[in-house]
Amino acid sequence: MFHLLESQQFTKKKLRELFDLTSRMESILARGGEECLKDKILASLYFTPSLRTRFSFEAAMLRLGGSILSTEAADIFSSELRGRFEDTIRVVSEMSDVIVLRHYESGFAKRAAAVSYVPIINAGDGPAQHPTQALVDLYTIDRHVGGVDGCSIAMVGDLSGRTVRSLCYFLAKFHGVTISFISPDLTEVKDDIKEYLQRHKVRFTEITNPKGGLEELVKEVDVVHITQLSKEYFTGGHKDYKKTISNYALSAKALSAMKKSAVIMHPLPRAEELPDESDSDPRAIYFRQNHYGLCLRMAILSTVLDCYPSSL
Ligand code: CP
Repeated sequence: MFHLLESQQFTKKKLRELFDLTSRMESILARGGEECLKDKILASLYFTPSLRTRFSFEAAMLRLGGSILSTEAADIFSSELRGRFEDTIRVVSEMSDVIVLRHYESGFAKRAAAVSYVPIINAGDGPAQHPTQALVDLYTIDRHVGGVDGCSIAMVGDLSGRTVRSLCYFLAKFHGVTISFISPDLTEVKDDIKEYLQRHKVRFTEITNPKGGLEELVKEVDVVHITQLSKEYFTGGHKDYKKTISNYALSAKALSAMKKSAVIMHPLPRAEELPDESDSDPRAIYFRQNHYGLCLRMAILSTVLDCYPSSL
């Protein structure tokens, strides 16, 4: 059984197979979908909120002819589910063919996989990992930058979160990648990720608390990957947030400093780090990423259930 729990489990070969299938799913989606998961049931088991990931997996299942059981507040909407987590997984896995799980605590996807009768897909476990979002990011880089090997990427904003963590584990599989981490000290990239990158010989620099905006910092890179700086980090309230966010926002000046061939990515949702003005910039591909996310999740479901479209 194939569980999708963390980025480290993928080899480059597996990533290439998944990306090839994703690109074929783009053609299948353009034709309206397929019926290869007709008799399969996906259980969406979410213990914390999600819009993009949940709908993306559910739409992917529906586009491949499958069905869905869904709860977006698993520990509130059922007295049964307030019991032991492992029992919940056993019960839900009796009723479904695959479980997509989001949980507020690190390690719960692995705990689920240890007792589940069906594949578990980690849709985010606390601050630890969000491997399918990182796969979307990686696929987008692969498509738009002409491959991941040799790419330079500026990661800006909240670098302590699960999306950046999962993406770093993936980037470490490629050759010649350089990363520039740009963040306030409150949200800087964690030591375990830095150690992992060092061990895998990934070159990176850290720019903490920069002053004067992003324009000098994003000039040379192929990818600007921005994540939301949550307002709750700022103990000084709205004034403190406003003062700080200008150093991490993709301003008009930063846009004009960036390479013409660069791309702007964001997992969404966004706040003031990504002003509306950048939406019309041809390098902004953060909405396109949602389309890739749907196709990628069609490929993931097909792979974990070992049921492939007949038209492939
Ligand atoms: N990008 C992302 O994970 O969004 P959701 O929290 O809405 O799933």
